[in-house]
Amino acid sequence: MTSVTRAGHLAPYFKASSSVVSNGLKPLVVAHTPAEKVLVHPLPKTSTVESLHGSLPIQGLKARVNGRGPSHVRFAHTDISYPDFSAYRRKETQDPTARATDNVDGRQSFTYLIAGAGGVAGAYAAKSLVTHFVSSMAAAADVLALAKIEIKLSEIPEGKSVTFKWRGKPLFIRHRTANEISTEQSVPVETLRDPQHDNQRTQNPKWLVVIGVCTHLGCVPVANAGDFGGYYCPCHGSHYDASGRIRKGPAPLNLEVPPYSFVEEGLLVVG
Ligand code: FES
Repeated sequence: MTSVTRAGHLAPYFKASSSVVSNGLKPLVVAHTPAEKVLVHPLPKTSTVESLHGSLPIQGLKARVNGRGPSHVRFAHTDISYPDFSAYRRKETQDPTARATDNVDGRQSFTYLIAGAGGVAGAYAAKSLVTHFVSSMAAAADVLALAKIEIKLSEIPEGKSVTFKWRGKPLFIRHRTANEISTEQSVPVETLRDPQHDNQRTQNPKWLVVIGVCTHLGCVPVANAGDFGGYYCPCHGSHYDASGRIRKGPAPLNLEVPPYSFVEEGLLVVG
């Protein structure tokens, strides 16, 4: 059907026409001359919004408007069929007459299964992430390899203090004489700035093991020097005895004793 409208004094300048055509679900009625036929695509077997939209002759009509076709197209909506979404719906919900309570167990168990699987996967991912993060802060293998050192005590003569390097710090191993042992063990603990008996600082009285870092400001003391014959820090004049205890000067604490053990006769392991 085609209609032409003329109104008032503007009528000579305007010419409107409209056509009623079918939608894509049924064969199209040719609205104009037979030469301006609109191609209608065949209906897809499964009708969805996408497929229906693609089958509408809108594109073709637009093309005709640019020519000499109708300027307005109106679709008849009385014969539209709704898209079929059954391909996307669960089996339990495809029967519109079924009661929701009849299939609630099946639907909810599926939901719980998905939620549970997601929870397990999330927990495993979180655990893996935390493990990687914590292990990244641990010491590297080459650092751990240097964490312990073995020292052959037979190479240190009596009365001498030998310096080793342990974890980037100087380590003093002193082979004490019987005279040094008796002297240090007889010192009254109450007279000391950092009170420690000699027995608390040595596992074997013959061997003194201390870290060679002055407890004042971190200088390295000199062995067999100072007023007490132990160690002397020349930076600010701290004197330590042969047990590594502070006896004079600004240092507040005794030299630190690291963890060590005698694994066998003549072999000391520090760390
Ligand atoms: Fe040793 Fe100051 S750093 S006395």
